[in-house]
Amino acid sequence: MKHFYLLVLAALTLLAGSLYAQKFEGLALTPPMGWNSWNTFACNVDEALIREMADAMVSSGMKDAGYKYLVIDDCWHGERDSLGFIQPNPKRFPSGMKALADYVHSKGLKFGIYSCAGDKTCGGHPGSRGHEYQDALSYAQWGVDYLKYDWCNTDGLNAVGAYTTMRDALNAAKRPIVFSLCEWGNNDPWKWGKNVGHLWRTSGDITDCFDCEVNHVTWSSWGIMKIVEMRKNIRQYSGPDHWNDPDMMEVGRAMLPSEDRAHFSLWCMMASPLIAGNDLRGMKKETIEILTNREMIAVDQDSLGVQGYRYDAKDSLEVWVKPLMKGDWAVCFLNRSAKAQKIDFNWSKNVVTDTVANRTLNTNETVFTLRNLWTKKNISSTKKNLEAVVPSHDVFVVRLEKK
Ligand code: GLA
Repeated sequence: MKHFYLLVLAALTLLAGSLYAQKFEGLALTPPMGWNSWNTFACNVDEALIREMADAMVSSGMKDAGYKYLVIDDCWHGERDSLGFIQPNPKRFPSGMKALADYVHSKGLKFGIYSCAGDKTCGGHPGSRGHEYQDALSYAQWGVDYLKYDWCNTDGLNAVGAYTTMRDALNAAKRPIVFSLCEWGNNDPWKWGKNVGHLWRTSGDITDCFDCEVNHVTWSSWGIMKIVEMRKNIRQYSGPDHWNDPDMMEVGRAMLPSEDRAHFSLWCMMASPLIAGNDLRGMKKETIEILTNREMIAVDQDSLGVQGYRYDAKDSLEVWVKPLMKGDWAVCFLNRSAKAQKIDFNWSKNVVTDTVANRTLNTNETVFTLRNLWTKKNISSTKKNLEAVVPSHDVFVVRLEKK
């Protein structure tokens, strides 16, 4: 009988442990900001590149603007050793991951890495399936601060279970590591991800065009607007420490400056993680200006942590709104069409109620000053209509500040 009670007690303890197990809390109270190698370099990663990128993150001013995580995506892997511990590719990372993490840390930045829940990563390298605890231990020993965890080659795996296993492995390794779930929104991660990770991809892969689909036969990658359209009604699931992630940015790659500006503004309006994906070495001035626009970044990083939304759309001219701390709002006019369009926005006739944040913008009751977040000038107030011309594929973003 005594044994029976002991068994029941042990089972209850285990059950309680798994029910109450949690991610490392508080690592992403605002959307994570950083850089990831995939969009530009795909599998061409090595330690020299990552070091140069760390240097450029500092010298370009991105670090000062808030970018922190330097993440190596797929293809850093070598083989597992005889005990099953993963090793970096010895040709590409001869100094080892610990030395690289130390270098990144010495620049005041944080170090991120990539793995996959499946047998192999999307690039065909060893995945973490069956090695979760070992891999988490290696990452902790190397000094990893951020893990992006992909979803290729996962036949027979349950997403909630697989991601929870890695969360628990990270916990067991005892190093605080931001956990980025990358299963492309296939299993509604916004419904279960909050207790598992700090951000979750909501779509397939992004590509560097404003509104195209690139067909890769078995899968497609998606332009900026396609990604924005892909999921509806999930903004209520995003918030401090658990963010919807529409993928790494394409700013500074193949799009026009206007399109980069629109892309960046939308990511900020949606409280998205701001993970740059361009080559940070020798960036054009206009790219730096976009990526380091602190007033736009402040909209993204606003501690209220509410994902903005499309309030209105007519003739490819959209109005996006985002409630901010202290009663402020950000409003973004987006021109999706191929020609310039005029805006003539009457604030008092547009009383905006955000039912998720439980906030109303009513300029009949409160007058706000208007600040243009791209020219960084105060322009007028909500007493007057906002009149402006928005070029094709561009934005006009204002912050409404209480007088
Ligand atoms: C998937 C992910 C991408 C990238 C690649 C690497 O496609 O969605 O972001 O990590 O794998 O192979």
